[in-house]
Amino acid sequence: MEKQQKIISMFNEISKTYDITNRVLSFGVDKSWRRMACDLAYKFYDKNSIEIIADVACGTGDMCEYWQKRANKNKIDVKTIHGIDPSSGMLDVAKQKLPQFSFTLSSATNLPFEDESVDIISISYGIRNVIDRIDAFKEFRRVLKPNGLLVILEFTKNEKDDFRSKLREFYMKKILPKIGGLVSKNYEAYQYLPDSIDNFLSAKMMRDELQEIGFITKYQKSFSFDISTLLISQKV
Ligand SMILES: C[S@@+](CC[C@H](N)C(=O)[O-])C[C@H]1O[C@@H](n2cnc3c(N)ncnc32)[C@H](O)[C@@H]1O
Repeated sequence: MEKQQKIISMFNEISKTYDITNRVLSFGVDKSWRRMACDLAYKFYDKNSIEIIADVACGTGDMCEYWQKRANKNKIDVKTIHGIDPSSGMLDVAKQKLPQFSFTLSSATNLPFEDESVDIISISYGIRNVIDRIDAFKEFRRVLKPNGLLVILEFTKNEKDDFRSKLREFYMKKILPKIGGLVSKNYEAYQYLPDSIDNFLSAKMMRDELQEIGFITKYQKSFSFDISTLLISQKV
């Protein structure tokens, strides 16, 4: 099977246990990463009325929910929140949990939007799984309005060799695959996670790649032992 299709099938297989496994593996702190991403993006965008937020690789829809909750909290009117994902299993869970949002079965490289029509695109823990990453970044640029924002949450490759990094490596490579496998009953999927991070970019490499495509990064921060990185980049 083709590599991209294999990844999508893997997410179909773990879709039913994805949410619970996620909470266990991140000790629930992914919630604060998501909240922070939405709040900062709303602050940078600085508009109290937004037409479209697209959450790409939306999976079971968590980010869509955060965009709505944080909009309410920040008194921002968002007309449409739209989730996109190529895994039918993940989207089935999202649709059942969050019937108030629109969802489309599609890839990051083929978004169901007109040119320059989207205000904010988010992709959380998704871009690592997109094989044609450069094509996806170009597609994000196509659909974003001028000055639109791209919000990326991702596990980026470690560049340091200090004690914190060793601790992080130990957790990601030795503990996480075992717990993930146990909760989801799919050991292969949770071995894929640290392997895919090793094969991915560092935060700096991703920022440079985005710059070449026409995004300038307004904000970059790694948190929780640098396990997770938030990038907020603007279409220029
Ligand atoms: C780790 S999950 C993240 C889900 C969700 N965004 C979250 O934060 O929990 C990765 C998601 O990427 C999706 N994915 C894989 N390949 C993709 C592609 N080419 N384009 C868009 N999404 C993709 C998978 O189906 C899966 O739902």
